[in-house]
Amino acid sequence: MILQYDHIDSTNRVAKDLIAEGTPSGTLVRAVRQSAGKGQYGRVFESPKGGLYFSLVLEPDLPLEQLPLITLATGLACLRVLKEQFALSPHIKWPNDIYLAGGKVAGILCENVLKPGPDGRLTATVIIGVGMNVNNKVRDFADEVQSLITTLSEHLHTQIDLEELLANLTRAIIDQVARLKHDRIAVLAEWQQADLLWGRPVVYLRDSQSLTGIGQGVTEQGAYRICEENGVEHQVIGGQLRLSPG
Ligand code: BTN
Repeated sequence: MILQYDHIDSTNRVAKDLIAEGTPSGTLVRAVRQSAGKGQYGRVFESPKGGLYFSLVLEPDLPLEQLPLITLATGLACLRVLKEQFALSPHIKWPNDIYLAGGKVAGILCENVLKPGPDGRLTATVIIGVGMNVNNKVRDFADEVQSLITTLSEHLHTQIDLEELLANLTRAIIDQVARLKHDRIAVLAEWQQADLLWGRPVVYLRDSQSLTGIGQGVTEQGAYRICEENGVEHQVIGGQLRLSPG
């Protein structure tokens, strides 16, 4: 099932309501614009016309502890499409941001809905939300984010076919998530190659705590490794990871 909206608050919110009504795996919700796009850490994801905003509902055949890997697999799917369709070389900032030439071009927000299966064990339905800056302009965004983002059309100096891009992205996401079942180690190895922060000084922030060190890629569970100057290694999940300013 495909649902298309011109203007909606959030495609992830619509997908969550559809799951409650029993929508099947593979349902796609797409909007031309969102008024309250959901971003990480409860932020609003600005979604002006010209971008691609969609949520794909999937019931992955994965143990619950591997669900964080779906964000990583989705990031890889975005990378593959940007490489294959446009010959670009983007990177991923753990866990969910796609960067192109120093600017954020896309964000991913995966949300899990858990319910007991027929055997009483919890099963997950995942909402994979992707927002990509495509035919919109950097000047369409709030002043404070303009220096941090880029859009595909401004980077490539051409208009992009949103329908073709959406079809390629949904296909690639389904493929990469399916690979997690039998080919998880290869998926993670591919992710390390795309890591924007690998070997670079990073700051990790969670609540009022901060940690500085060198980025060391993801673990098999999807956490991020940071090595402090004194050699102590940390594995972090949740929170925010940034390139260190100093
Ligand atoms: C982030 O960068 O913080 C994640 C942004 C995810 C935004 C997408 S847009 C489509 C989908 N619907 C939402 O409400 N959010 C995601």
